Amino acid sequence: MEYKTLCPFPKDFLWGGSSSAYQCEGAWDEDGKSPSVQDCKPIEPGNSDWKVCVDHYHRFKEDIALMAEMGFKEFRFSIAWTRIIPDGDGAINPKGVSHYHEVIDECLKYGIEPVITLYHFDLPQILQDKYGGWVSRQCIDDFVRYCEVCFNEYGNKVKYFLTINEQNMMTMYNMGDCKNDKERYQANHHMIVAMAKATIRCHEICNAKIAPAPNISCVYPASSAPLDNLAAADYDQFRNRLYVDTIVFGEYPEALSEYFRQRGCMPEITDEDLKIMKAAHPDFIAFNYYGADTVRYVSLEEGEKIKAAGRREGANPEEFMIGMQTEPGMAVSVSNPLQEKTSYNMGIDPVGLRLTLRQLWERYKLPLLITENGCGVKDELTPDGKVNDEYRIDYLRKHITACREAITDGVKLFGYSPWSAFDLISTHQGITKRYGFIYINRDEKDLKDLARIKKDSFFWYKKCIESNGKDLD
Ligand code: BG6
Repeated sequence: MEYKTLCPFPKDFLWGGSSSAYQCEGAWDEDGKSPSVQDCKPIEPGNSDWKVCVDHYHRFKEDIALMAEMGFKEFRFSIAWTRIIPDGDGAINPKGVSHYHEVIDECLKYGIEPVITLYHFDLPQILQDKYGGWVSRQCIDDFVRYCEVCFNEYGNKVKYFLTINEQNMMTMYNMGDCKNDKERYQANHHMIVAMAKATIRCHEICNAKIAPAPNISCVYPASSAPLDNLAAADYDQFRNRLYVDTIVFGEYPEALSEYFRQRGCMPEITDEDLKIMKAAHPDFIAFNYYGADTVRYVSLEEGEKIKAAGRREGANPEEFMIGMQTEPGMAVSVSNPLQEKTSYNMGIDPVGLRLTLRQLWERYKLPLLITENGCGVKDELTPDGKVNDEYRIDYLRKHITACREAITDGVKLFGYSPWSAFDLISTHQGITKRYGFIYINRDEKDLKDLARIKKDSFFWYKKCIESNGKDLD
């Protein structure tokens, strides 16, 4: 609905920005850090590796000062498990622990609330080699122990922890290289239990609030056909609710559980697991949003064929992706011709953000924090050292307006932390695909001087924050 006037953002709204350790820190083997699974993954040809990134590990003070200049109220960053417990399950590394004390203290010095992700794709490689990572139940205890170290060390100065970033993307895109679906959903279940246990331990150890941080987007049916509507509802269970119902209600969505059972991939769940899941109560929901999904219905038979085509030797990248985004008998993801796209073919859909916010609020009645949203673009540095990123301003303006509309709808949204605070290395498209307010002067292979340069969006966001979201011109 369209309102005549919109409610303002709450007075203490957390404006800020996000990052993740392996994408910005560099210093990949310094001060006792061990390699993570991300450090060990093959790099796409032509892309930067993770060794230096944007050198945030050494330049965090400069970066935080710039965030303070923009008026940030929060900075969401992740702690690298590989710095805190380099061998995953053994000795605590004092240098790693003290590094994050310094980062947190630097934020607090400027009145910036640190929002800490405990896990952002970067499992210690040693645990992957030792027992296959999340496929093993042992990973639950090792993760919880690492989290306990963080709660004990930082819990008296950090108000917000996030457990696992985008668990759903890790599972849907098989980032743990599981051999089959049964294994993939078992690994996923272990993450659910690990999050639940970490949530309980956080509440026992400190006063901080804690939340999951999945990637959530509402799902549109490709047409008004009844079966496409069913596909959208099913896919919503599959890509969203599986990762939120389990942590908020302690339950798997029912229809999806039966679907998994019949496909032989329902994980083994112990009574103890269920008890833990029921006992965990996150304080809020953090989520990343990049655009709504659109799906059409696919029969079991057709879905199996699409999947098989994506898995076959010699499948082209498009067939592979469609195969990954198909659930036989449920849905296949399709491109939405009515949704605007970035140059990297990512959706630009502020209405989808408003809808997603409403669905989350109506279902779970927990306060919401947007921990990622943004537009990755190949920014150009002008000869006089500027970045005219009007497209980013336009993207953010529309999404911030959608947040305000959702607040007017009654949604309890308490912060907006777009991706990313400053340029960092994208998951698959190197430094070329940039998201930040601050340009980092480097190319894929040439590190140049790594200078920090304020983009036009830097000044625009500063004004937005100063006016508490009113001045978006
Ligand atoms: C999210 C991740 O999926 O999207 C980030 O949490 C990631 O780590 C971001 O960088 C943007 O995606 P990409 O692939 O453009 O880096």
